[in-house]
Amino acid sequence: MRESRDLYGGTLKLFLDTAHLADIETAVRWGILDGITTNPSLAAKEGLAFRDLIREITDRVSGPVSAEVVSPDADEMVRQGHDLRTIADNVVVKVPMTREGITAGARLVEAGIPINVTLVFSTAQAILAATIGATFVSPFLGRVDDIGNDGLGLLSDIVGTYAAQGYETEVLAASLRHPVHVVEAARMGADAATMPFAVMDKLFDHPLTDIGNERFNRDWEAYQAALSGRAKA
Ligand code: E4P
Repeated sequence: MRESRDLYGGTLKLFLDTAHLADIETAVRWGILDGITTNPSLAAKEGLAFRDLIREITDRVSGPVSAEVVSPDADEMVRQGHDLRTIADNVVVKVPMTREGITAGARLVEAGIPINVTLVFSTAQAILAATIGATFVSPFLGRVDDIGNDGLGLLSDIVGTYAAQGYETEVLAASLRHPVHVVEAARMGADAATMPFAVMDKLFDHPLTDIGNERFNRDWEAYQAALSGRAKA
């Protein structure tokens, strides 16, 4: 986690959308990781009990770590949310964008617990998330694209609506599929972008960087060889 970054305001924060500890460790080492989002499907891949998994993640990441509650019932979601928060102070409780999820989210916010409203697919839903004082709202760009609609258009609309209203909820662009999603999220003024490890990895790449780097290395070696040849002569 970049300690110099203000967690709740400022420039685009980069989150990994994963529960895979090795990938999290790599991104921490790169020095570019601001936080983590998980979901039940991602957790199910890791073969660890959910609380243990979240603890392992919070041991590695000091920024926000979103952990999702799973229940059709608001009371049970609130109970799970309080329980998840006992794992670490940087746990953000993820609630689904349903009537019960918003009901639970409002109560968690009331209790001082930061929440992330997930599964957001419309600006109307994003308004509800901001209304209850969510810390994050997660519009799922890729899944909107998957059904032939405009994920980036949705993001732009939410960012514009929040700016018009002065909502403090941070827009966390989610379900990102490729680096262009990340670049556009930054351009539009999203507060954070969460992406799979493969997408974060691709942010580094450009073929001209590789070609340039190889050439510099080759020239450096030739230069050193020439110097050592001159010294021997
Ligand atoms: C966000 O918090 C979600 O976990 C995530 O971005 C979902 O992305 P997917 O559509 O790639 O599953």
